[in-house]
Amino acid sequence: MEFFDALSELVPADRLRRNEALDRHTTYRVGGPADVMCLPETRSELLEVVSCARVREIPWLVLGNGSNVLFSDEGFRGLVIKIRGSTPAEGTLWHLKQEDEFIRAGAGVSLPRLAWSAAATGLSGLEFCTGIPGVVGGSIRGNAGAHGSDLGQVLESIELIRPSGDIVTIRASEAGFSYRKSDIDRDGIVTGAVFRLTPDEPENVYERIRDFTEYRKRTQPSSDQSAGCMFRNPEGDRAGRLIDAAGCKGLQVGGSRVSDLHGNFVVNQGGATASDALRLIDLVRERVFERTGVALELEVRVMRTGVI
Ligand code: EPU
Repeated sequence: MEFFDALSELVPADRLRRNEALDRHTTYRVGGPADVMCLPETRSELLEVVSCARVREIPWLVLGNGSNVLFSDEGFRGLVIKIRGSTPAEGTLWHLKQEDEFIRAGAGVSLPRLAWSAAATGLSGLEFCTGIPGVVGGSIRGNAGAHGSDLGQVLESIELIRPSGDIVTIRASEAGFSYRKSDIDRDGIVTGAVFRLTPDEPENVYERIRDFTEYRKRTQPSSDQSAGCMFRNPEGDRAGRLIDAAGCKGLQVGGSRVSDLHGNFVVNQGGATASDALRLIDLVRERVFERTGVALELEVRVMRTGVI
């Protein structure tokens, strides 16, 4: 495979895999194999890997923690580029540095780590992130949020690789943030960002984190395998409330089940497949539409084989 050989010149063998099972890389734990997966550590490696796929017209996508995606059981015909670091390290895509009220973070830093690090240095604004299992890059694209806040509100600037290969920094106000959306399309890769936060006593910040954690534990199936909230909240209402009102809690297809705790979570009971989840999603949509007239829109990204 010429493409794999070309990648081998760019990334060491231990960070390059063939036929990598995607269920190991998503929080819902489903998905067949990716033809190739590579795990770049630096911005220049990432740039080279993407160029290598682009010139050969190989389908590619960037994956962070896999917390908001559903891959099909057939997997992905192409290249999955995974950006995720376990410990922040300078010079990598998971660097993390505080300067006054700003925090600079690489695309592969996990949101909980970012939030705890802000709390420890007496900076407020990211408390809502401790329960979001995403990484900075993917979470910015989808403007992740919780408890009435979202990333768009605390971002100062974003560093991106443009489809042309240029690396640019844009202001957050130029990213078109709205509820769980940004204008950053899949051809623009987020490599890092700067957050502007507000100084506060660490004890106050920790207290808000405790409150949010308690709320989530009480209302969401946090310890189950899921892809987070499955549907976007429709204007003026809540997807979870509608799903509940339509009597969908406890609905099950194979190993996929609508959580008994929160209607907007589809959980993997063990052994679920992507097609179980997709059939259940369709069923929930139909029932909610029949009973309430609301057409729910997916928040989770569904990746069909090689075509996004
Ligand atoms: N509700 C029900 N039945 C349910 C679930 C919810 O009646 O099964 C009702 C609740 O009683 C409440 C209302 O719906 O009155 C809202 O529920 P909740 O507070 O759980 O908030 P949500 O709108 O369902 C949003 C975000 C979550 C975030 C929580 C907490 C979306 C789609 N969901 O949920 O984000 O964690 O608020 O801030 O924006 C995510 O985006 O993946 C996600 C999980």
